[in-house]
Amino acid sequence: MAQVLVLYGSTEGQAATVAERIADVLETAGHEPAVVHIKHRPEPFDLTDYDAVIVGASIHMGKHQKYVRKYVKKHADELNRLPSAFFSVSLAAADDSEEGWEGAREYVAEFLAETGWNPDATAVVPGALKYSQYGTLKRFVMKQIAKRTSGDTDTARDYEYTDWNEVEGFTSDFAESLP
Ligand SMILES: Cc1cc2nc3c(=O)[nH]c(=O)nc-3n(C[C@H](O)[C@H](O)[C@H](O)COP(=O)(O)O)c2cc1C
Repeated sequence: MAQVLVLYGSTEGQAATVAERIADVLETAGHEPAVVHIKHRPEPFDLTDYDAVIVGASIHMGKHQKYVRKYVKKHADELNRLPSAFFSVSLAAADDSEEGWEGAREYVAEFLAETGWNPDATAVVPGALKYSQYGTLKRFVMKQIAKRTSGDTDTARDYEYTDWNEVEGFTSDFAESLP
């Protein structure tokens, strides 16, 4: 049984929901997960108190949350010494075209190059379009992004593209690799 930290950043909540699902899968696999928002870390907080770490973040305007990039860069050495995995939530990952998939992988490559972290596993996770939660400007911006990616532009409803089977598969594989 391993103590596994699921550390994440999220702006509209989808990466938070993914983090919770990952924790459920880890628990079912017999591990002890702790889900922590990077901005709301308990005090004291030490990565080395855990046997393994999964970090998650989502993409806004082509980048993962700045506070996630900053934290991971600062703690890259500790993360590199632990079994670790990264998941990246984006709309690009929801785009079935080759271009969309490559874009989602490129976000991950940029994040890892910037932070100096080398996780054992990575996953690109299709996110959500939550038009009902966006203000006027965000709704407009997202409609333009949606035109290029998922194609769902009916702002009267929300869309969730996350493939929960894939999230579970990614987590199960990681869980099995732990002592
Ligand atoms: C203002 C805004 C900008 C976004 N920019 C991008 C982007 O550049 N590329 C992309 O693939 N997804 C983009 N997305 C989609 C988000 O990654 C997606 O909605 C995700 O589910 C958000 O995760 P969160 O709820 O954890 O913040 C954007 C979303 C918003 C609201």
